[in-house]
Amino acid sequence: MDVSKLPATAKAGLGLAAFYLLYLLVASITLWSKRRAFKREKGVMAVPWYQAADPIFGIDVVRGNIKNLKEHKLLERSHERFDIMGVNTFQINVLDRHIHVTREPENLKVIQAVDFKKWTLGRRRKIDFAPLLGSGIFTTDGAEWQHSREMLRPNFVRSQVGDLATFENHIGHLIQAIQPNTTVDLSVLFFRLTIDSATEFLFGESTNSLTNSNGEGGFAEAFTSSQDYIANSTRWGVLGKILNTEQKQFEKNNKFCHDFVDYFVDKGLARRTELLSNPKPDRYVFIDELVRQTTDRKRIRDESLNILLAGRDTTASLLTNVWFILSKRPDIWTALQTDVARLKGAKPTFEQLKDLKYLKALLNESLRLHPVVPLNSREATEDTTLPVGGGPSGRAPIFIKAGEIVSWNVYSLHRRKDFYGPDAEEFRPERWLDDPETGKKGLRPGWEYLPFNGGARICLGQQFALTEASYATVRLCQTFAGIESRDPEEHWQEFLTLTGVNLNGAKVALTPREG
Ligand code: HEM
Ligand SMILES: *[C@@H]1O[C@H](CO)[C@@H](O)[C@H](O)[C@H]1NC(C)=O
Ligand SMILES: *[C@@H]1O[C@H](CO)[C@@H](O)[C@H](O)[C@H]1NC(C)=O
Ligand SMILES: *[C@@H]1O[C@H](CO)[C@@H](O)[C@H](O)[C@H]1NC(C)=O
Repeated sequence: MDVSKLPATAKAGLGLAAFYLLYLLVASITLWSKRRAFKREKGVMAVPWYQAADPIFGIDVVRGNIKNLKEHKLLERSHERFDIMGVNTFQINVLDRHIHVTREPENLKVIQAVDFKKWTLGRRRKIDFAPLLGSGIFTTDGAEWQHSREMLRPNFVRSQVGDLATFENHIGHLIQAIQPNTTVDLSVLFFRLTIDSATEFLFGESTNSLTNSNGEGGFAEAFTSSQDYIANSTRWGVLGKILNTEQKQFEKNNKFCHDFVDYFVDKGLARRTELLSNPKPDRYVFIDELVRQTTDRKRIRDESLNILLAGRDTTASLLTNVWFILSKRPDIWTALQTDVARLKGAKPTFEQLKDLKYLKALLNESLRLHPVVPLNSREATEDTTLPVGGGPSGRAPIFIKAGEIVSWNVYSLHRRKDFYGPDAEEFRPERWLDDPETGKKGLRPGWEYLPFNGGARICLGQQFALTEASYATVRLCQTFAGIESRDPEEHWQEFLTLTGVNLNGAKVALTPREG
Protein backbone atom coordinates (compact mmCIF):
# COMPACT_ATOMS: atom_id res chain seq x y z
CA MET A 1 0.00 0.00 0.00
CA ASP A 2 1.25 3.44 -0.95
CA VAL A 3 0.55 5.61 2.08
CA SER A 4 1.39 8.82 0.21
CA LYS A 5 -1.76 8.36 -1.94
CA LEU A 6 -4.15 8.33 1.06
CA PRO A 7 -6.22 11.42 1.96
CA ALA A 8 -4.78 13.61 4.72
CA THR A 9 -7.35 12.61 7.41
CA ALA A 10 -6.61 8.93 6.88
CA LYS A 11 -2.91 9.65 7.09
CA ALA A 12 -3.38 11.48 10.36
CA GLY A 13 -5.55 8.61 11.64
CA LEU A 14 -2.93 6.04 10.75
CA GLY A 15 -0.25 8.17 12.34
CA LEU A 16 -2.27 8.42 15.52
CA ALA A 17 -2.90 4.66 15.60
CA ALA A 18 0.78 3.95 15.07
CA PHE A 19 1.67 6.38 17.80
CA TYR A 20 -0.83 4.75 20.18
CA LEU A 21 0.54 1.28 19.42
CA LEU A 22 4.03 2.53 20.08
CA TYR A 23 2.87 4.05 23.34
CA LEU A 24 1.31 0.72 24.42
CA LEU A 25 4.47 -1.12 23.49
CA VAL A 26 6.68 1.27 25.43
CA ALA A 27 4.33 1.17 28.43
CA SER A 28 4.30 -2.60 28.55
CA ILE A 29 8.07 -2.85 28.13
CA THR A 30 8.53 -0.34 30.93
CA LEU A 31 6.15 -2.27 33.21
CA TRP A 32 7.82 -5.55 32.29
CA SER A 33 11.31 -4.29 33.04
CA LYS A 34 10.14 -2.62 36.24
CA ARG A 35 8.59 -5.93 37.33
CA ARG A 36 11.72 -7.80 36.36
CA ALA A 37 13.87 -5.50 38.48
CA PHE A 38 11.41 -5.81 41.37
CA LYS A 39 11.45 -9.61 41.18
CA ARG A 40 15.28 -9.68 41.02
CA GLU A 41 15.58 -7.38 43.97
CA LYS A 42 13.20 -9.53 46.05
CA GLY A 43 14.77 -12.79 44.90
CA VAL A 44 11.44 -14.37 43.99
CA MET A 45 11.29 -17.83 42.45
CA ALA A 46 8.73 -19.79 40.44
CA VAL A 47 5.64 -21.31 42.08
CA PRO A 48 4.51 -24.79 40.98
CA TRP A 49 1.42 -24.90 38.77
CA TYR A 50 -1.46 -27.23 39.52
CA GLN A 51 -1.54 -29.62 36.56
CA ALA A 52 -5.02 -28.92 35.21
CA ALA A 53 -6.26 -30.60 32.03
CA ASP A 54 -7.32 -27.12 30.91
CA PRO A 55 -4.45 -24.90 32.09
CA ILE A 56 -5.98 -21.68 30.68
CA PHE A 57 -9.52 -21.58 32.08
CA GLY A 58 -9.38 -24.57 34.42
CA ILE A 59 -12.75 -25.85 33.20
CA ASP A 60 -11.87 -29.28 34.60
CA VAL A 61 -11.01 -27.65 37.95
CA VAL A 62 -14.39 -25.88 38.08
CA ARG A 63 -16.25 -29.07 37.18
CA GLY A 64 -14.23 -30.99 39.75
CA ASN A 65 -15.05 -28.41 42.43
CA ILE A 66 -18.77 -28.57 41.65
CA LYS A 67 -18.63 -32.35 41.87
CA ASN A 68 -16.63 -32.27 45.11
CA LEU A 69 -19.03 -29.81 46.66
CA LYS A 70 -22.00 -32.02 45.76
CA GLU A 71 -20.23 -35.04 47.24
CA HIS A 72 -19.39 -33.02 50.38
CA LYS A 73 -15.68 -33.53 49.83
CA LEU A 74 -14.48 -30.15 48.59
CA LEU A 75 -12.33 -29.51 51.68
CA GLU A 76 -10.96 -33.03 51.90
CA ARG A 77 -9.96 -33.08 48.23
CA SER A 78 -8.46 -29.61 48.19
CA HIS A 79 -6.45 -30.67 51.25
CA GLU A 80 -5.26 -33.79 49.39
CA ARG A 81 -4.23 -31.63 46.44
CA PHE A 82 -1.41 -30.11 48.52
CA ASP A 83 -0.19 -33.53 49.64
CA ILE A 84 -0.37 -35.05 46.17
CA MET A 85 1.65 -32.15 44.76
CA GLY A 86 3.97 -32.24 47.76
CA VAL A 87 3.83 -28.44 48.18
CA ASN A 88 2.27 -25.86 50.48
CA THR A 89 1.71 -23.19 47.82
CA PHE A 90 0.72 -23.54 44.17
CA GLN A 91 -0.83 -21.50 41.36
CA ILE A 92 -3.89 -22.27 39.30
CA ASN A 93 -6.09 -20.62 36.64
CA VAL A 94 -9.81 -20.73 37.37
CA LEU A 95 -12.04 -19.08 34.76
CA ASP A 96 -10.97 -15.44 34.59
CA ARG A 97 -8.76 -15.55 37.69
CA HIS A 98 -5.13 -16.43 38.30
CA ILE A 99 -4.96 -17.63 41.89
CA HIS A 100 -2.16 -18.56 44.28
CA VAL A 101 -3.33 -21.06 46.87
CA THR A 102 -1.36 -21.41 50.09
CA ARG A 103 -1.30 -23.06 53.51
CA GLU A 104 1.85 -21.32 54.77
CA PRO A 105 1.60 -19.50 58.12
CA GLU A 106 4.40 -17.10 57.06
CA ASN A 107 2.41 -15.98 54.01
CA LEU A 108 -0.76 -15.56 56.05
CA LYS A 109 1.04 -13.44 58.60
CA VAL A 110 2.26 -11.11 55.85
CA ILE A 111 -1.19 -10.81 54.22
CA GLN A 112 -3.12 -10.30 57.46
CA ALA A 113 -0.64 -8.31 59.53
CA VAL A 114 2.75 -7.23 58.15
CA ASP A 115 1.58 -6.00 54.71
CA PHE A 116 -2.08 -5.69 55.66
CA LYS A 117 -2.54 -2.46 53.67
CA LYS A 118 -1.51 -4.09 50.39
CA TRP A 119 -4.47 -6.48 50.44
CA THR A 120 -8.25 -6.08 50.07
CA LEU A 121 -11.24 -8.39 50.32
CA GLY A 122 -11.53 -8.25 46.55
CA ARG A 123 -14.31 -7.12 44.27
CA ARG A 124 -16.40 -10.22 44.74
CA ARG A 125 -17.00 -9.85 48.45
CA LYS A 126 -18.22 -6.28 47.93
CA ILE A 127 -20.41 -6.86 44.90
CA ASP A 128 -22.02 -10.12 45.96
CA PHE A 129 -22.78 -9.09 49.53
CA ALA A 130 -23.91 -5.53 48.83
CA PRO A 131 -27.62 -6.17 48.09
CA LEU A 132 -28.06 -7.61 51.59
CA LEU A 133 -25.25 -6.05 53.61
CA GLY A 134 -24.69 -2.66 51.96
CA SER A 135 -21.37 -1.37 53.23
CA GLY A 136 -20.22 -2.32 56.69
CA ILE A 137 -17.27 -3.85 58.49
CA PHE A 138 -17.57 -7.19 56.70
CA THR A 139 -17.65 -5.79 53.17
CA THR A 140 -15.39 -2.72 53.08
CA ASP A 141 -11.66 -1.98 52.95
CA GLY A 142 -9.33 0.91 53.68
CA ALA A 143 -10.54 4.04 55.45
CA GLU A 144 -14.18 2.98 55.28
CA TRP A 145 -13.40 -0.33 57.01
CA GLN A 146 -11.17 1.39 59.57
CA HIS A 147 -14.00 3.71 60.50
CA SER A 148 -16.39 0.78 60.98
CA ARG A 149 -13.88 -1.13 63.05
CA GLU A 150 -13.32 1.85 65.35
CA MET A 151 -17.03 2.45 65.74
CA LEU A 152 -17.84 -1.21 66.47
CA ARG A 153 -14.90 -2.35 68.57
CA PRO A 154 -16.01 -0.77 71.88
CA ASN A 155 -19.19 -2.87 71.67
CA PHE A 156 -17.20 -6.06 72.04
CA VAL A 157 -15.56 -5.36 75.36
CA ARG A 158 -15.88 -8.00 78.04
CA SER A 159 -18.73 -6.49 80.02
CA GLN A 160 -20.94 -6.66 76.94
CA VAL A 161 -20.03 -10.05 75.52
CA GLY A 162 -19.89 -11.63 78.97
CA ASP A 163 -23.58 -10.97 79.59
CA LEU A 164 -24.36 -14.50 80.73
CA ALA A 165 -27.81 -13.68 82.10
CA THR A 166 -29.05 -13.00 78.57
CA PHE A 167 -27.43 -16.19 77.29
CA GLU A 168 -29.00 -18.13 80.16
CA ASN A 169 -32.46 -16.94 79.14
CA HIS A 170 -32.07 -18.24 75.57
CA ILE A 171 -30.30 -21.44 76.57
CA GLY A 172 -33.18 -22.10 78.96
CA HIS A 173 -35.47 -21.95 75.93
CA LEU A 174 -33.18 -24.33 74.04
CA ILE A 175 -33.18 -26.87 76.88
CA GLN A 176 -36.97 -26.70 77.13
CA ALA A 177 -37.22 -27.44 73.42
CA ILE A 178 -35.37 -30.77 73.86
CA GLN A 179 -37.53 -33.88 74.34
CA PRO A 180 -35.46 -36.25 76.52
CA ASN A 181 -34.76 -39.74 75.17
CA THR A 182 -35.97 -38.90 71.67
CA THR A 183 -34.04 -37.99 68.55
CA VAL A 184 -33.37 -34.26 68.21
CA ASP A 185 -31.17 -32.44 65.74
CA LEU A 186 -29.39 -30.02 68.04
CA SER A 187 -28.14 -28.15 65.01
CA VAL A 188 -31.63 -26.76 64.29
CA LEU A 189 -31.83 -25.52 67.88
CA PHE A 190 -28.32 -24.03 67.81
CA PHE A 191 -29.15 -21.95 64.73
CA ARG A 192 -32.24 -20.63 66.54
CA LEU A 193 -30.23 -20.00 69.69
CA THR A 194 -27.62 -17.88 67.94
CA ILE A 195 -30.14 -15.75 66.07
CA ASP A 196 -32.17 -15.25 69.24
CA SER A 197 -29.16 -14.15 71.27
CA ALA A 198 -27.60 -12.09 68.44
CA THR A 199 -30.83 -10.14 67.80
CA GLU A 200 -31.15 -9.47 71.51
CA PHE A 201 -27.53 -8.24 71.66
CA LEU A 202 -27.97 -6.08 68.54
CA PHE A 203 -31.52 -4.77 68.79
CA GLY A 204 -32.47 -5.26 72.42
CA GLU A 205 -35.33 -7.49 71.26
CA SER A 206 -34.97 -11.14 70.42
CA THR A 207 -36.48 -13.05 67.51
CA ASN A 208 -37.31 -15.69 70.16
CA SER A 209 -37.41 -18.35 67.48
CA LEU A 210 -36.83 -21.08 70.13
CA THR A 211 -40.13 -20.35 71.86
CA ASN A 212 -42.41 -19.12 69.08
CA SER A 213 -43.22 -21.70 66.45
CA ASN A 214 -43.77 -19.01 63.84
CA GLY A 215 -43.65 -15.91 65.92
CA GLU A 216 -40.25 -14.61 64.87
CA GLY A 217 -41.97 -13.24 61.80
CA GLY A 218 -39.88 -14.84 59.09
CA PHE A 219 -36.68 -12.83 59.57
CA ALA A 220 -34.47 -15.86 60.22
CA GLU A 221 -35.81 -17.58 57.12
CA ALA A 222 -35.39 -14.55 54.85
CA PHE A 223 -31.89 -13.89 56.17
CA THR A 224 -30.83 -17.53 55.70
CA SER A 225 -32.18 -17.64 52.17
CA SER A 226 -30.42 -14.41 51.14
CA GLN A 227 -27.21 -15.77 52.62
CA ASP A 228 -27.59 -18.96 50.58
CA TYR A 229 -27.95 -16.93 47.44
CA ILE A 230 -24.83 -14.94 48.26
CA ALA A 231 -22.89 -18.11 49.04
CA ASN A 232 -23.72 -19.35 45.53
CA SER A 233 -22.55 -16.11 43.92
CA THR A 234 -19.27 -15.89 45.79
CA ARG A 235 -18.43 -19.51 45.16
CA TRP A 236 -19.18 -19.69 41.47
CA GLY A 237 -18.56 -16.14 40.28
CA VAL A 238 -20.03 -15.80 36.80
CA LEU A 239 -21.58 -19.25 37.07
CA GLY A 240 -23.41 -18.14 40.22
CA LYS A 241 -25.75 -16.15 38.00
CA ILE A 242 -26.84 -19.39 36.37
CA LEU A 243 -27.19 -21.33 39.64
CA ASN A 244 -29.13 -18.48 41.23
CA THR A 245 -32.51 -18.63 39.59
CA GLU A 246 -34.30 -16.91 42.44
CA GLN A 247 -33.30 -13.29 41.78
CA LYS A 248 -36.79 -11.94 42.60
CA GLN A 249 -36.99 -13.91 45.82
CA PHE A 250 -33.52 -12.68 46.77
CA GLU A 251 -34.65 -9.06 46.37
CA LYS A 252 -37.80 -9.74 48.38
CA ASN A 253 -35.82 -11.36 51.18
CA ASN A 254 -33.32 -8.51 51.28
CA LYS A 255 -36.13 -6.00 51.57
CA PHE A 256 -37.69 -8.04 54.35
CA CYS A 257 -34.41 -8.06 56.31
CA HIS A 258 -33.90 -4.34 55.78
CA ASP A 259 -37.41 -3.48 56.96
CA PHE A 260 -36.98 -5.75 59.98
CA VAL A 261 -33.79 -3.97 61.07
CA ASP A 262 -35.02 -0.48 60.16
CA TYR A 263 -37.82 -0.91 62.66
CA PHE A 264 -35.24 -1.15 65.45
CA VAL A 265 -33.01 1.55 63.98
CA ASP A 266 -35.94 3.97 63.88
CA LYS A 267 -36.85 3.14 67.46
CA GLY A 268 -33.23 3.80 68.44
CA LEU A 269 -33.07 7.06 66.53
CA ALA A 270 -36.30 8.23 68.21
CA ARG A 271 -34.56 7.72 71.57
CA ARG A 272 -31.41 9.57 70.49
CA THR A 273 -31.75 12.66 72.68
CA GLU A 274 -32.52 10.50 75.65
CA LEU A 275 -29.55 8.22 74.86
CA LEU A 276 -27.14 11.15 74.55
CA SER A 277 -28.18 12.52 77.92
CA ASN A 278 -27.64 9.15 79.58
CA PRO A 279 -24.13 7.78 78.97
CA LYS A 280 -24.62 4.82 81.33
CA PRO A 281 -27.78 2.91 80.40
CA ASP A 282 -28.87 0.05 82.65
CA ARG A 283 -29.28 -2.16 79.65
CA TYR A 284 -26.79 -2.51 76.81
CA VAL A 285 -28.18 -2.48 73.25
CA PHE A 286 -25.73 -2.51 70.35
CA ILE A 287 -27.87 -0.38 68.05
CA ASP A 288 -28.23 2.29 70.74
CA GLU A 289 -24.46 2.63 70.91
CA LEU A 290 -24.35 3.25 67.16
CA VAL A 291 -27.20 5.78 67.47
CA ARG A 292 -25.03 7.72 69.89
CA GLN A 293 -22.37 8.03 67.18
CA THR A 294 -24.35 8.55 63.99
CA THR A 295 -27.82 9.40 62.69
CA ASP A 296 -27.21 7.63 59.39
CA ARG A 297 -30.06 5.13 59.26
CA LYS A 298 -28.65 2.98 56.48
CA ARG A 299 -25.23 2.90 58.09
CA ILE A 300 -26.64 1.51 61.34
CA ARG A 301 -28.73 -1.04 59.46
CA ASP A 302 -25.78 -2.17 57.36
CA GLU A 303 -23.42 -2.55 60.30
CA SER A 304 -26.00 -4.53 62.30
CA LEU A 305 -26.62 -6.92 59.41
CA ASN A 306 -22.87 -7.28 58.88
CA ILE A 307 -22.44 -8.38 62.49
CA LEU A 308 -25.40 -10.72 62.29
CA LEU A 309 -23.97 -12.39 59.22
CA ALA A 310 -20.49 -12.66 60.72
CA GLY A 311 -21.72 -13.99 64.03
CA ARG A 312 -24.78 -16.14 63.65
CA ASP A 313 -24.01 -19.21 61.51
CA THR A 314 -20.40 -19.31 62.65
CA THR A 315 -21.26 -19.88 66.31
CA ALA A 316 -24.13 -22.24 65.50
CA SER A 317 -21.80 -24.25 63.25
CA LEU A 318 -19.16 -24.51 65.98
CA LEU A 319 -21.76 -25.78 68.46
CA THR A 320 -23.11 -28.29 65.94
CA ASN A 321 -19.64 -29.64 65.17
CA VAL A 322 -18.79 -29.94 68.87
CA TRP A 323 -22.00 -31.76 69.73
CA PHE A 324 -21.65 -34.11 66.78
CA ILE A 325 -18.26 -35.16 68.18
CA LEU A 326 -19.66 -35.45 71.73
CA SER A 327 -22.31 -37.87 70.44
CA LYS A 328 -19.69 -40.02 68.70
CA ARG A 329 -16.93 -40.07 71.31
CA PRO A 330 -17.87 -41.37 74.78
CA ASP A 331 -14.29 -40.72 75.95
CA ILE A 332 -14.60 -37.01 75.14
CA TRP A 333 -18.11 -36.83 76.63
CA THR A 334 -16.87 -38.34 79.90
CA ALA A 335 -13.83 -36.07 80.11
CA LEU A 336 -16.01 -33.02 79.49
CA GLN A 337 -18.54 -34.09 82.13
CA THR A 338 -15.68 -34.47 84.62
CA ASP A 339 -14.46 -30.95 83.81
CA VAL A 340 -17.97 -29.47 84.15
CA ALA A 341 -18.61 -31.36 87.42
CA ARG A 342 -16.12 -29.01 89.10
CA LEU A 343 -18.91 -26.41 89.05
CA LYS A 344 -20.99 -28.71 91.30
CA GLY A 345 -24.10 -27.98 89.26
CA ALA A 346 -23.93 -24.18 89.63
CA LYS A 347 -24.31 -21.96 86.60
CA PRO A 348 -20.83 -20.81 85.61
CA THR A 349 -19.60 -17.24 85.89
CA PHE A 350 -17.53 -15.71 83.12
CA GLU A 351 -14.30 -16.45 85.07
CA GLN A 352 -15.27 -20.05 85.84
CA LEU A 353 -16.06 -20.59 82.19
CA LYS A 354 -12.53 -19.53 81.23
CA ASP A 355 -11.15 -21.95 83.78
CA LEU A 356 -12.70 -25.07 82.23
CA LYS A 357 -9.53 -26.24 80.49
CA TYR A 358 -10.88 -29.38 78.87
CA LEU A 359 -13.85 -27.48 77.43
CA LYS A 360 -11.48 -24.92 75.89
CA ALA A 361 -9.29 -27.65 74.49
CA LEU A 362 -12.39 -29.28 72.99
CA LEU A 363 -13.47 -26.04 71.27
CA ASN A 364 -9.90 -25.45 70.06
CA GLU A 365 -9.72 -28.93 68.61
CA SER A 366 -13.12 -28.58 66.92
CA LEU A 367 -12.04 -25.31 65.30
CA ARG A 368 -8.79 -26.94 64.25
CA LEU A 369 -10.20 -29.98 62.43
CA HIS A 370 -13.56 -28.46 61.49
CA PRO A 371 -12.86 -24.73 61.08
CA VAL A 372 -16.15 -22.97 60.40
CA VAL A 373 -14.46 -20.48 58.06
CA PRO A 374 -12.33 -23.01 56.16
CA LEU A 375 -11.48 -21.02 53.04
CA ASN A 376 -10.64 -17.36 52.58
CA SER A 377 -8.88 -15.03 50.17
CA ARG A 378 -7.52 -11.55 49.53
CA GLU A 379 -6.67 -9.51 46.45
CA ALA A 380 -3.34 -7.66 46.03
CA THR A 381 -3.68 -3.90 45.44
CA GLU A 382 -0.11 -3.57 44.11
CA ASP A 383 2.74 -5.73 42.86
CA THR A 384 4.08 -7.47 45.94
CA THR A 385 5.74 -10.58 47.32
CA LEU A 386 5.00 -13.27 49.87
CA PRO A 387 7.88 -14.76 51.85
CA VAL A 388 7.57 -18.46 50.92
CA GLY A 389 6.29 -20.88 48.27
CA GLY A 390 8.87 -20.40 45.50
CA GLY A 391 11.72 -22.47 44.08
CA PRO A 392 12.40 -26.20 44.36
CA SER A 393 12.36 -26.12 48.17
CA GLY A 394 9.24 -23.93 48.35
CA ARG A 395 11.11 -21.64 50.74
CA ALA A 396 11.89 -18.76 48.35
CA PRO A 397 9.73 -15.61 48.14
CA ILE A 398 7.07 -15.43 45.46
CA PHE A 399 5.74 -12.64 43.26
CA ILE A 400 2.07 -11.58 43.28
CA LYS A 401 0.89 -9.18 40.59
CA ALA A 402 -1.47 -6.29 41.39
CA GLY A 403 -5.08 -7.46 41.13
CA GLU A 404 -4.30 -11.15 41.65
CA ILE A 405 -5.90 -13.31 44.29
CA VAL A 406 -4.26 -15.34 47.03
CA SER A 407 -6.57 -17.83 48.67
CA TRP A 408 -5.79 -19.87 51.72
CA ASN A 409 -7.08 -23.11 53.08
CA VAL A 410 -7.46 -23.14 56.86
CA TYR A 411 -8.80 -26.70 56.81
CA SER A 412 -5.58 -27.93 55.24
CA LEU A 413 -3.30 -25.63 57.27
CA HIS A 414 -4.78 -27.08 60.47
CA ARG A 415 -3.98 -30.63 59.30
CA ARG A 416 -0.31 -30.13 58.47
CA LYS A 417 1.63 -32.99 59.99
CA ASP A 418 4.82 -30.91 60.26
CA PHE A 419 3.00 -28.63 62.76
CA TYR A 420 0.54 -30.94 64.49
CA GLY A 421 2.39 -34.25 64.32
CA PRO A 422 1.66 -37.58 62.66
CA ASP A 423 -1.75 -37.73 64.38
CA ALA A 424 -2.77 -34.36 62.92
CA GLU A 425 -5.97 -35.82 61.45
CA GLU A 426 -7.15 -37.27 64.75
CA PHE A 427 -9.61 -35.46 67.01
CA ARG A 428 -7.68 -35.28 70.27
CA PRO A 429 -8.46 -32.36 72.64
CA GLU A 430 -5.63 -33.51 74.94
CA ARG A 431 -3.05 -32.14 72.51
CA TRP A 432 -3.98 -28.66 73.81
CA LEU A 433 -3.36 -29.56 77.46
CA ASP A 434 -0.14 -29.80 79.45
CA ASP A 435 0.55 -33.43 80.31
CA PRO A 436 1.38 -33.63 84.04
CA GLU A 437 2.91 -37.10 83.64
CA THR A 438 5.40 -36.41 80.85
CA GLY A 439 5.69 -32.67 81.47
CA LYS A 440 4.90 -32.16 77.78
CA LYS A 441 3.39 -28.72 77.15
CA GLY A 442 0.06 -28.31 75.35
CA LEU A 443 -0.12 -26.72 71.90
CA ARG A 444 0.40 -22.96 71.76
CA PRO A 445 0.30 -22.33 68.04
CA GLY A 446 0.88 -19.02 66.26
CA TRP A 447 -0.05 -18.35 62.63
CA GLU A 448 -0.47 -22.07 61.96
CA TYR A 449 -3.80 -21.92 63.85
CA LEU A 450 -6.23 -19.43 62.31
CA PRO A 451 -9.91 -20.16 63.03
CA PHE A 452 -10.56 -16.44 63.62
CA ASN A 453 -7.96 -15.01 61.25
CA GLY A 454 -5.23 -12.77 62.64
CA GLY A 455 -3.86 -9.26 62.41
CA ALA A 456 -5.86 -6.09 61.82
CA ARG A 457 -9.07 -7.82 60.74
CA ILE A 458 -9.07 -10.55 63.37
CA CYS A 459 -12.61 -11.64 64.24
CA LEU A 460 -14.24 -9.03 66.48
CA GLY A 461 -16.65 -11.57 67.93
CA GLN A 462 -14.16 -14.25 69.04
CA GLN A 463 -14.87 -13.72 72.74
CA PHE A 464 -18.61 -13.44 72.16
CA ALA A 465 -18.63 -16.70 70.17
CA LEU A 466 -16.47 -18.69 72.59
CA THR A 467 -18.47 -17.46 75.57
CA GLU A 468 -21.77 -18.38 73.98
CA ALA A 469 -20.56 -21.79 72.76
CA SER A 470 -18.95 -22.58 76.13
CA TYR A 471 -21.93 -21.48 78.16
CA ALA A 472 -24.40 -23.43 76.01
CA THR A 473 -22.23 -26.55 76.18
CA VAL A 474 -21.84 -26.36 79.97
CA ARG A 475 -25.57 -25.83 80.60
CA LEU A 476 -26.43 -28.77 78.35
CA CYS A 477 -23.90 -30.98 80.16
CA GLN A 478 -25.37 -29.94 83.50
CA THR A 479 -28.89 -30.79 82.35
CA PHE A 480 -28.25 -34.08 80.60
CA ALA A 481 -26.26 -37.00 81.99
CA GLY A 482 -26.08 -39.10 78.85
CA ILE A 483 -25.85 -38.73 75.11
CA GLU A 484 -26.45 -41.17 72.31
CA SER A 485 -25.84 -40.55 68.62
CA ARG A 486 -28.86 -41.01 66.38
CA ASP A 487 -26.87 -40.47 63.20
CA PRO A 488 -25.80 -43.64 61.35
CA GLU A 489 -22.96 -41.73 59.65
CA GLU A 490 -19.78 -42.23 61.72
CA HIS A 491 -17.70 -39.36 60.36
CA TRP A 492 -17.96 -35.60 60.17
CA GLN A 493 -18.94 -34.61 56.63
CA GLU A 494 -18.67 -31.12 55.24
CA PHE A 495 -21.62 -28.94 54.38
CA LEU A 496 -20.42 -25.62 52.98
CA THR A 497 -22.54 -22.50 52.73
CA LEU A 498 -20.80 -19.36 53.90
CA THR A 499 -19.55 -21.51 56.77
CA GLY A 500 -18.62 -25.16 57.15
CA VAL A 501 -20.74 -27.40 59.33
CA ASN A 502 -21.43 -31.12 59.74
CA LEU A 503 -23.75 -32.25 56.93
CA ASN A 504 -26.09 -34.23 59.17
CA GLY A 505 -26.10 -31.66 61.96
CA ALA A 506 -26.04 -33.14 65.46
CA LYS A 507 -28.69 -35.83 65.76
CA VAL A 508 -28.72 -37.11 69.31
CA ALA A 509 -30.86 -38.44 72.13
CA LEU A 510 -30.14 -36.96 75.56
CA THR A 511 -30.98 -38.55 78.89
CA PRO A 512 -31.82 -36.27 81.80
CA ARG A 513 -29.93 -36.24 85.07
CA GLU A 514 -31.55 -38.15 87.95
CA GLY A 515 -33.54 -36.10 90.46
C1 HEM B 1 -17.00 -19.67 66.07
C2 HEM B 1 -17.42 -18.50 65.72
C3 HEM B 1 -16.71 -17.55 64.79
C4 HEM B 1 -15.67 -17.77 63.93
C5 HEM B 1 -14.94 -19.07 63.66
C6 HEM B 1 -15.38 -16.51 63.29
C7 HEM B 1 -14.38 -16.34 62.34
C8 HEM B 1 -14.12 -15.15 61.70
C9 HEM B 1 -13.14 -14.97 60.66
C10 HEM B 1 -12.27 -16.07 60.07
C11 HEM B 1 -13.17 -13.68 60.29
C12 HEM B 1 -12.32 -13.02 59.20
C13 HEM B 1 -13.10 -12.85 57.93
C14 HEM B 1 -12.28 -12.13 56.90
O1 HEM B 1 -11.69 -11.08 57.21
O2 HEM B 1 -12.20 -12.60 55.76
C15 HEM B 1 -14.15 -13.02 61.11
C16 HEM B 1 -14.46 -11.67 61.04
C17 HEM B 1 -15.42 -11.06 61.81
N1 HEM B 1 -16.18 -11.64 62.79
FE1 HEM B 1 -16.12 -13.55 63.37
N2 HEM B 1 -16.22 -15.56 63.77
C18 HEM B 1 -17.04 -16.14 64.70
C19 HEM B 1 -18.03 -15.52 65.43
C20 HEM B 1 -18.31 -14.18 65.41
C21 HEM B 1 -19.31 -13.53 66.23
C22 HEM B 1 -20.20 -14.22 67.24
C23 HEM B 1 -19.31 -12.20 65.89
C24 HEM B 1 -20.14 -11.07 66.40
C25 HEM B 1 -21.05 -11.12 67.33
C26 HEM B 1 -18.28 -12.03 64.87
C27 HEM B 1 -17.97 -10.83 64.28
C28 HEM B 1 -17.02 -10.67 63.30
C29 HEM B 1 -16.78 -9.42 62.63
C30 HEM B 1 -17.48 -8.08 62.89
C31 HEM B 1 -15.77 -9.66 61.69
C32 HEM B 1 -15.16 -8.65 60.71
C33 HEM B 1 -13.92 -8.04 61.32
C34 HEM B 1 -13.20 -7.09 60.37
O3 HEM B 1 -13.25 -7.32 59.15
O4 HEM B 1 -12.57 -6.16 60.85
N3 HEM B 1 -17.70 -13.25 64.62
N4 HEM B 1 -14.71 -13.93 61.97
C1 LIG C 1 -34.78 -41.89 79.59
O1 LIG C 1 -33.93 -43.03 79.48
C2 LIG C 1 -33.21 -43.29 80.66
C3 LIG C 1 -32.18 -44.38 80.37
O2 LIG C 1 -32.58 -45.24 79.36
C4 LIG C 1 -34.21 -43.69 81.77
O3 LIG C 1 -33.53 -43.98 82.96
C5 LIG C 1 -35.17 -42.52 81.98
O4 LIG C 1 -36.17 -42.89 82.90
C6 LIG C 1 -35.83 -42.07 80.67
N1 LIG C 1 -36.47 -40.81 80.93
C7 LIG C 1 -37.57 -40.43 80.30
C8 LIG C 1 -38.10 -39.06 80.65
O5 LIG C 1 -38.14 -41.11 79.48
C1 LIG D 1 -27.65 -22.29 45.36
O1 LIG D 1 -27.18 -23.30 44.48
C2 LIG D 1 -27.72 -24.59 44.70
C3 LIG D 1 -27.11 -25.53 43.69
O2 LIG D 1 -25.72 -25.66 43.94
C4 LIG D 1 -29.23 -24.55 44.56
O3 LIG D 1 -29.78 -25.82 44.87
C5 LIG D 1 -29.81 -23.50 45.51
O4 LIG D 1 -31.22 -23.39 45.31
C6 LIG D 1 -29.16 -22.15 45.26
N1 LIG D 1 -29.66 -21.22 46.27
C7 LIG D 1 -30.31 -20.10 45.97
C8 LIG D 1 -30.83 -19.29 47.10
O5 LIG D 1 -30.46 -19.70 44.83
C1 LIG E 1 -6.82 -22.54 72.59
O1 LIG E 1 -6.20 -21.85 71.52
C2 LIG E 1 -5.83 -20.53 71.78
C3 LIG E 1 -5.32 -19.91 70.50
O2 LIG E 1 -4.16 -20.55 70.05
C4 LIG E 1 -4.82 -20.47 72.91
O3 LIG E 1 -4.51 -19.13 73.22
C5 LIG E 1 -5.41 -21.15 74.12
O4 LIG E 1 -4.45 -21.20 75.12
C6 LIG E 1 -5.87 -22.55 73.79
N1 LIG E 1 -6.50 -23.10 74.98
C7 LIG E 1 -6.48 -24.36 75.32
C8 LIG E 1 -7.02 -24.77 76.62
O5 LIG E 1 -6.05 -25.18 74.58
